[in-house]
Amino acid sequence: MAKCNVKPAEGKLGVLVVGNGAVATTFMTGVLMARKGLAKPIGSMTQYDKMRVGEGADKKYLHYDQIVPMAKLDDIVFGTWDVYPANAFESAMNAEVLKEKDILPVKEELEAIVPMKAAFDHNYAKRLDGENYMKGATRWEMVENLRKDIRDFKAKHGCSRIVVLWAASTEVYVPVNEQIHDTLEHLEAAMKADDKEHIAPSMCYAYAALQEGAPFIMGAPNTTVDIPAMWELAEKTQMPIAGKDFKTGQTLVKSGFAPIIGTRCLGLSGWFSTNILGNRDGLVLDEPANFRTKEVSKLSTLESILVPENQPDLYTDYFHKVRINYYPPRNDNKEGWDNIDIFGWMGYPMQIKINFLCRDSILAAPLCLDLVLLSDLAARAGRHGIQRFLSFFLKSPMHDYTKGEVPVNHLFQQYVMLKNAIREMGGYEADEAID
Ligand SMILES: NC(=O)c1ccc[n+]([C@@H]2O[C@H](COP(=O)([O-])OP(=O)(O)OC[C@H]3O[C@@H](n4cnc5c(N)ncnc54)[C@H](O)[C@@H]3O)[C@@H](O)[C@H]2O)c1
Repeated sequence: MAKCNVKPAEGKLGVLVVGNGAVATTFMTGVLMARKGLAKPIGSMTQYDKMRVGEGADKKYLHYDQIVPMAKLDDIVFGTWDVYPANAFESAMNAEVLKEKDILPVKEELEAIVPMKAAFDHNYAKRLDGENYMKGATRWEMVENLRKDIRDFKAKHGCSRIVVLWAASTEVYVPVNEQIHDTLEHLEAAMKADDKEHIAPSMCYAYAALQEGAPFIMGAPNTTVDIPAMWELAEKTQMPIAGKDFKTGQTLVKSGFAPIIGTRCLGLSGWFSTNILGNRDGLVLDEPANFRTKEVSKLSTLESILVPENQPDLYTDYFHKVRINYYPPRNDNKEGWDNIDIFGWMGYPMQIKINFLCRDSILAAPLCLDLVLLSDLAARAGRHGIQRFLSFFLKSPMHDYTKGEVPVNHLFQQYVMLKNAIREMGGYEADEAID
């Protein structure tokens, strides 16, 4: 790490998770179990991946923490907010993602993670009926309460740094409003005027986190930090932001599979994706307004990999449809089907079918860990604003659309971006090779 000028990862890292549901508790339980040596954090890039640095005789394959100073699992202290009062142990048991034997050894630590009162508005997630929220609070009061929660947590646990991660329900779709979400001044005015229509509760969390000097990560498809006003705040506070929507099951497959079609110059006439899902996330997404937020995020993946303008013969007018169906018997075990209609030589049609029987929270938990640790790294490296190198972990990666930037959805291009950012932070040369 000779040339690396990232600040060391000293002291405790407070990880404040918004939402204490299936994803959050699977993440927390896995970290607590892993640090006792009772489980392995499989799927986590920061814990497993090795990447090349240097070339020729200087070539080495190193883990991320051998290149840049990373916080250790032992340094993490968890906190949470949720609409339901259940502690992380009760919530992990209720979620039924993990077996009892994988939760009980860390029961005490999980019981100590008790949700703080949520900044919540029933109109943003109609299917939730929990009572543990700041009743009657205006948007600005929410901000102030959340800022105090962050400060109190930091002091109580002696944390040197905080990261705030949204792993709460998907809110109803809030379209970007050019008069309100354009500047920090307008955003703050709307918060102070208690504008419930344009200020989602998630925006209060993001605003509070950034003002308290904590990176903010949006794990749901909410547009929360995907607006110029929040970019301005991230610049002002010199904090990193990342989002949106964890890239877990079907979209992971899509962003890894679509390049096969594109790279071989095959044509696409349609891609139909459907899912069944029975957890609380599935319940919330059964509400059309909440699903709209998810749909916008899921649809964006293909369009930037198989681009009609670049290849009109191959990708003009393909039909892309994404569906999520709430089906309780499967709980967190999502089943996804993809039917892909492609065409080849002289336009002859062919089909590909993919059936992915995945576990949603098992795929999301390592992304939570990586996004948290890499955002903390980015903050110590002095990086601020949208962290495009984290696109690898996200379904609908943020990019500055006001400057004509396009998102990178191609999994392997994202992987190169991830590694180059780590190389640069570690004082090595960036390059375009895939290893
Ligand atoms: N698991 C995946 O593969 C995956 C992938 C991408 C995105 N996500 C997103 O991650 C989020 C979490 O998923 P999950 O399966 O854990 O859902 P979940 O329903 O089990 O947990 C979400 C929790 O958030 C709480 N919540 C809702 N609004 C809140 C607020 N304003 N403040 C505090 N808490 C609030 C709910 O009460 C609930 O306990 C969802 O938005 C989901 O869309 C999940």
